[in-house]
Amino acid sequence: MSLNAPRGTNDILPPLSSKWKYILNKAEDLMERYNYSEIKTPIFEYTPLFQRGIGEATDIVEKEMYTFEDKGGRSITLRPEGTASVMRSFMENKIYGRAQPTKYYYFGPMFRYERPQSGRYRQFYQFGVEALGSDDPALDAEMISMGLNLMEELDLDNLQTIINSIGCKKCRPDYIERLKKHLVNHKEKLCSDCKKRLKTNPLRILDCKNDSCSAVIKEAPKITDYLCTECQNHFEKVKNYLDSLNIDYNIDPKLVRGLDYYTKTAFEIKYKGLGAQDTVFAGGRYNGLAEEIGGREVPAIGFALGMERLILTLEKEEIDLPINKSIDLYLTTIGEKAKEKGFELLSKIRKSGLKAKMDYLDRSVGSQMKDADRSNASYTIIIGGDELKSGVATVRNMDSGEELDIELANIINEMHELV
Ligand code: HAM
Repeated sequence: MSLNAPRGTNDILPPLSSKWKYILNKAEDLMERYNYSEIKTPIFEYTPLFQRGIGEATDIVEKEMYTFEDKGGRSITLRPEGTASVMRSFMENKIYGRAQPTKYYYFGPMFRYERPQSGRYRQFYQFGVEALGSDDPALDAEMISMGLNLMEELDLDNLQTIINSIGCKKCRPDYIERLKKHLVNHKEKLCSDCKKRLKTNPLRILDCKNDSCSAVIKEAPKITDYLCTECQNHFEKVKNYLDSLNIDYNIDPKLVRGLDYYTKTAFEIKYKGLGAQDTVFAGGRYNGLAEEIGGREVPAIGFALGMERLILTLEKEEIDLPINKSIDLYLTTIGEKAKEKGFELLSKIRKSGLKAKMDYLDRSVGSQMKDADRSNASYTIIIGGDELKSGVATVRNMDSGEELDIELANIINEMHELV
């Protein structure tokens, strides 16, 4: 058995972990401004939540879930996404009884047994946002613009916004019948997966990238031509709100998404440079999900952003996040006595609120100075026998090279003056 990390998982090491933290701080700051609060749901749930919520005939439920029986014989699934759990929590905790809408965000690992490739992993992290309890089309536009705002704050403006309306339980069945009729007429041209989908989930055929299927889909009826008045009006308003915010978008009637709970607005924000897995964040309205899992109607909308794909996008765009780690002071010591004194001082310096470091490898002064450089120290101080005797040490500004003699007894106050 290999002792490597499981296929499709990643170790997030420094300095990458600092980039994640930077992005999360930005995202959380944005959430404050939009008045969304954090929700944490379990990483595993009872399997039927996802079967019913995401849909039995979806790729996620059919092939990608990490499902196992626990010691009590219950079927458990590692969450493949966050929306179903958020809605479960909303119902279970009777949040619908409070003032609405309820606005949540979350960040955490999701699990899907997919074929790993660039931008597609088996454990990946989503930053997700959900607004529950309102069917207002303004909220649909808020969702999209909020996600795009985060991208802008990371200097990403080269993204494509694609939107669609996929109707509701009133108008979609009629559309699906028409779609099916068209597809059945060209069944021989469909790939084997799509032939199966014809029975289980014909809408998903619109999403197939196979050339032969694409040709059939091109001629297929468009869902936007079959929306009921309510869905049509909703979509018009969403577009008007997006226009009012000067958001550039394309309408793609083939955009259907891979989860069954969507109704009305669906959207994907893509970055072309990512190759096959080019959706950075995506979401939509899911007014039917609550009924599916809890027998009550709750209109809701949200999106989730893939952290790994966002990082890949930033890399492709050559955007360097300002995450240069630095310390205020590097304490260089010579000899055992000085090390003891330095060790004590280091603790006091840190308690006073400064970032400080010393050597733990008994290195030479030269190597310690190199380490200070690597650590981006603003100041260094050398403490040896002479400094212990005189009680005065030299503090060097690592940028300018300027040196100051400072009494060791006063060093903490003086350092606070300097940094
Ligand atoms: P999703 O389209 O399945 O939607 O995933 C959202 C985002 O998660 C994708 O756009 C992508 O960035 C990232 N993602 C998905 N699968 C992987 C993977 N295997 N590896 C790396 N990144 C991945 C949802 O999950 C919905 N819950 C979004 C939503 C929230 N809709 C409404 N509210």
